[in-house]
Amino acid sequence: MISWEKILIIIAVNCDKDMLVTKPKLCLLIRLGVYTVNTVYGDTIILPCHLEVPNDLRFGKWKYEAANKPSEFIAFRSATRKHVQYDDVPEYKDRLSLSENYTLSINNARIGDEKRFVCMLVTEDNVFEQPTIVKVFKQPSQPQIISRADFLETEQLKMLGECITKDGYPEGNLTWFKNGAVLQPVEGAVVINEQTNVDKATGLYTIIASLEYKATKDDTNAEFTCTVTYSAPTRQETLRSESLVFDIHYPTEKVRIEVLSKRNTIKEGDNITLECSGNGNPPPQEYLFYIPGEPEPIRSSSLYVLTDVRRNATGEYKCSLTDGNLMDSTRITVHYLDLLLTPSGEVIKQIGEALPVSCTISSSRNATVFWLKDNTRMRASPSFSSLQYQDAGNYICETTLQEVEGLKKRQILTLIVEGKPQIKMSKKTSPDGLYKTIACIVEGFPKPAVQWISTGGVINKTEETKYANGRFTSKIKIAPEENVTLTCIAENPLERTVTSLNVSAISIPESDEPEEKTDGNRENANDQAKLIVGIVVGLLLAALIAGVAYWLYMKKSKSASKHVDKDLGNIEENKKLEENNHKSEA
Ligand SMILES: *[C@@H]1O[C@H](CO)[C@@H](O)[C@H](O)[C@H]1NC(C)=O
Ligand SMILES: *[C@@H]1O[C@H](CO)[C@@H](O)[C@H](O)[C@H]1NC(C)=O
Ligand SMILES: *[C@@H]1O[C@H](CO)[C@@H](O)[C@H](O)[C@H]1NC(C)=O
Ligand SMILES: *[C@@H]1O[C@H](CO)[C@@H](O)[C@H](O)[C@H]1NC(C)=O
Ligand SMILES: *[C@@H]1O[C@H](CO)[C@@H](O)[C@H](O)[C@H]1NC(C)=O
Ligand SMILES: *[C@@H]1O[C@H](CO)[C@@H](O)[C@H](O)[C@H]1NC(C)=O
Ligand SMILES: *[C@@H]1O[C@H](CO)[C@@H](O)[C@H](O)[C@H]1NC(C)=O
Ligand SMILES: *[C@@H]1O[C@H](CO)[C@@H](O)[C@H](O)[C@H]1NC(C)=O
Repeated sequence: MISWEKILIIIAVNCDKDMLVTKPKLCLLIRLGVYTVNTVYGDTIILPCHLEVPNDLRFGKWKYEAANKPSEFIAFRSATRKHVQYDDVPEYKDRLSLSENYTLSINNARIGDEKRFVCMLVTEDNVFEQPTIVKVFKQPSQPQIISRADFLETEQLKMLGECITKDGYPEGNLTWFKNGAVLQPVEGAVVINEQTNVDKATGLYTIIASLEYKATKDDTNAEFTCTVTYSAPTRQETLRSESLVFDIHYPTEKVRIEVLSKRNTIKEGDNITLECSGNGNPPPQEYLFYIPGEPEPIRSSSLYVLTDVRRNATGEYKCSLTDGNLMDSTRITVHYLDLLLTPSGEVIKQIGEALPVSCTISSSRNATVFWLKDNTRMRASPSFSSLQYQDAGNYICETTLQEVEGLKKRQILTLIVEGKPQIKMSKKTSPDGLYKTIACIVEGFPKPAVQWISTGGVINKTEETKYANGRFTSKIKIAPEENVTLTCIAENPLERTVTSLNVSAISIPESDEPEEKTDGNRENANDQAKLIVGIVVGLLLAALIAGVAYWLYMKKSKSASKHVDKDLGNIEENKKLEENNHKSEA
């Protein structure tokens, strides 16, 4: 453009000098060639004359030509009198300045200045003319997206917004973009309507391009912008709006029911929170919950809570949209564990009685049972055919469901074995023979109180062993001057038992063997062992004695038979007898 102008200038100068005569056709063409001046709106338009000033110039003039109107003179300068005059044109009042070299300046450029201006240089016998076209440019405002949609919907053509750019010249173009790509109109999916308004006073353009858009799910996070492309004096330029992201609404296509729980398993007494969710945007506000045992579905927000559930809450739980469409289900098992111990609590039984015990469980899964007696794990479950004092204690039957955290049950049996007092007495002389220890072994529950009475009076200097398994021993040490009878009295709420023992004076040696009634004592067991050894030794001795006696007898009978031989005189028979005897001896 610029270079074309320059060429024109050179040719025009040559033309004016002599080419007008030599090559008139070319000159005519050049004369029709037009200079262009580009000016920014509001700036000063500078229009050089572009003609060689002739020596015999009388004056210069500027006029403009409007379409279908006679041309209008606006400025005049006399070459001889250095006099400038501006014509009375309202549009150009106080805006013009014609310099000595015939360059015309028009300040505060307006759209209305886009005209064809002609510089005329007049001599005595000739008129030279050179037109120049004025172009005015105004940068439009940065485009803005107004009337924005709050959200877009899939499957629905919706007004997304309007892009507006104001006060530009010449008219620019608006373009919509999605994620940086131009949005081309698509029937029923992308509809762009552009509207241009011209300000009557200024002649500037305001352009509005509305965008109707049918969104898809993929448009979530898509960035929408618009640009205005406009002509600047030297090139095309672009202004871009801020980018906008729209919330895309789409219907729910799937619902999901979930059990919100910290644990994997649910047991009786737990609270269950069910959550129903739809994958639409925005998600549905309400759902229908189908609860086993409830005749009607329950309308609720996305959370539904069941409190303190029982085993009968086990079953299939469902939820759907409020119109009953789109359903999902989940199965819930409420675990339970029941334990029944019979008998349980405090049980009082008499010694020797039988007591069947049972611990039965019922559970949603296989549960394991174990027993504790006085906090010690037992190998097997207890069962009593004949109760002993050591059977008394705290029995706990406990069960757990391994898979279900926190599901544990236990019941307690407190067994009390009662028995009337039983007494066994024994006496023993100390090795040095200075005193005797008399023991009263007492069995019974509750623990019997023991009292000693001697023919010599009440004895209170006793020694007691620990009471364990319903048994204890009360001992006294005495060195009686004469024979005494000692009485041991044992008494508990069930009975009073009295047993006596005769103890001879310390001076009289006495067997330490316990009384006939005594047994069960460890000391007695030792004594019994001694007795058995004694019996065995005794029997052996007896056998030896018997053997010796027999031998002696046989010797005697041999000599007797010889004696008989001589008496009877039967030699033959005697010989035979003798042989036999010798054989038996050997
Ligand atoms: C004409 O004069 C003006 C100021 O008087 C000057 O700025 C301009 O450069 C001149 N133009 C030419 C083509 O001599
Ligand atoms: C505006 O768009 C039209 C048609 O697409 C094109 O001819 C014209 O050059 C464009 N104008 C600008 C300023 O981009
Ligand atoms: C169940 O919820 C109730 C209140 O709704 C609460 O009092 C109770 O402690 C909860 N139970 C459990 C086991 O969390
Ligand atoms: C479950 O059993 C409890 C009593 O244990 C009863 O109150 C409740 O109504 C029952 N629920 C259903 C759904 O049958
Ligand atoms: C539960 O008990 C049944 C029968 O007593 C048995 O067949 C099954 O294997 C057990 N299951 C487990 C997990 O122990
Ligand atoms: C028991 O013995 C103590 C001395 O050891 C005596 O003081 C007390 O009187 C005695 N009690 C009876 C009841 O004999
Ligand atoms: C103790 O001796 C008396 C006589 O001194 C007698 O009557 C009694 O039966 C004896 N008791 C025992 C248990 O031997
Ligand atoms: C004491 O008992 C012994 C037998 O244990 C007997 O031989 C003796 O005669 C008794 N003495 C008296 C004084 O009774």
